[in-house]
Amino acid sequence: MIASNQNTEFARGLEGVVAAETRIGFVDGINGRLVYRGYNIEELAESSTFEEVTYLLLYGKLPNKSDLANFKNKLNADNHFDDKLFRVLQDCTKGSHPMSALRTGVSYLGGLDKNSNKSDLASQESMGLKLMGKFPSLVAAINRAYSGHEMIKSNEPDYTVRFLEESFGKKPSEFEVKVFRTALILHADHGMNASTFASMVAISTLSDMYSAVTAAISSLKGPLHGGANEQALELLERIGSAKNADKIVGEMLEKKEKIMGFGHRVYKVYDPRAKILKGYAKDLAKHTGKSELFETAEEVEKVMISKLGTKGIFPNVDFYSGIVYKSLGFDPKLFTPIFALSRISGWFARSLEYLHDNRLFRPRSMYKGEVGPIKYVPLEDRK
Ligand SMILES: CC(C)(COP(=O)(O)OP(=O)(O)OC[C@H]1O[C@@H](n2cnc3c(N)ncnc32)[C@H](O)[C@@H]1OP(=O)(O)O)[C@@H](O)C(=O)NCCC(=O)NCCS
Repeated sequence: MIASNQNTEFARGLEGVVAAETRIGFVDGINGRLVYRGYNIEELAESSTFEEVTYLLLYGKLPNKSDLANFKNKLNADNHFDDKLFRVLQDCTKGSHPMSALRTGVSYLGGLDKNSNKSDLASQESMGLKLMGKFPSLVAAINRAYSGHEMIKSNEPDYTVRFLEESFGKKPSEFEVKVFRTALILHADHGMNASTFASMVAISTLSDMYSAVTAAISSLKGPLHGGANEQALELLERIGSAKNADKIVGEMLEKKEKIMGFGHRVYKVYDPRAKILKGYAKDLAKHTGKSELFETAEEVEKVMISKLGTKGIFPNVDFYSGIVYKSLGFDPKLFTPIFALSRISGWFARSLEYLHDNRLFRPRSMYKGEVGPIKYVPLEDRK
């Protein structure tokens, strides 16, 4: 017999369920718009720094010069960690995905913060700022450990520049900074995705910001969420050249295989983030003189739109971000930690926003098992 005293409404994967109110960001999937606090993503990507955008997401307005200077001072007040953590990161990157190292790294930093047992808003905010301040060095150190190098420490106060400097051990060019900063801005927030939701569920228990970010990283790690750009790039490398696109993509679609980097649950038109990154992928191809990957991608896009455009299938952000990161010199295994380097802004802002009017997340499940009561048989009598 099935339990009968249950509400029968059930949405698989919570699809379509509205679980929170927010003023932070809006994904308009019909008109292909992404809005942070009322501003179009295109304008922010063109004119802002990542710190300005993070401030906007957190506090609801763009900072003036003195707000921004104070904010950067707070982020950089305690922005490094010692070599012991680097040894842990080296151990964690030996056999497993760099996302495991990132998850462990954030948890380790939480363990060292004596305030991490506090749950009031001011403490949560200061934990988030402290953690964000360390994030460029943490992800760069994971990059170094994964590629078999020692950690580099830079005093650079800019989030983007510090990350690039500590990743590659040299000053990035203005163009590299512009491209990477844009990618960070484009990935900073994107509605109630799985990792953002995970961070909010954790914070709703009045846990601490390190735990919320650890929960988010655990969710971002999965290939259905953060891992798609790594796979999109793998496919492009397998296709190898624009002339193979029609045949290989056609065969995959016939076998009902998914082409990574296309389609989206919310966008049914061209993803506005993909449009911007496509432009930079093209510029990078010119800049590096290696255009084959971009030309292959453009051809795959043409084939896909001709076959599936009428179903609302267009490139998403992951299709071109992989090419951009690869052209900047990153190993594909670092793509998801780079996603986290950006999305931490959204996790932090939305967790803090949720805490202002907190209610513990506690959905129900629909019980489909026996309601019994079945007679209990002691262990020694069971067959
Ligand atoms: C993101 C995704 C899960 C959305 O799925 P969805 O909401 O079920 O997609 P839709 O309902 O719009 O799909 C419409 C049709 O297009 C097909 N389709 C969707 N995305 C496709 C893709 N990437 N490759 C091939 N076919 C695709 C669907 O199978 C469906 O076909 P049908 O009409 O024969 O059933 C899906 O597009 C996907 O798996 N994309 C690849 C992974 C990816 O890039 N993820 C990153 C997202 S930011």
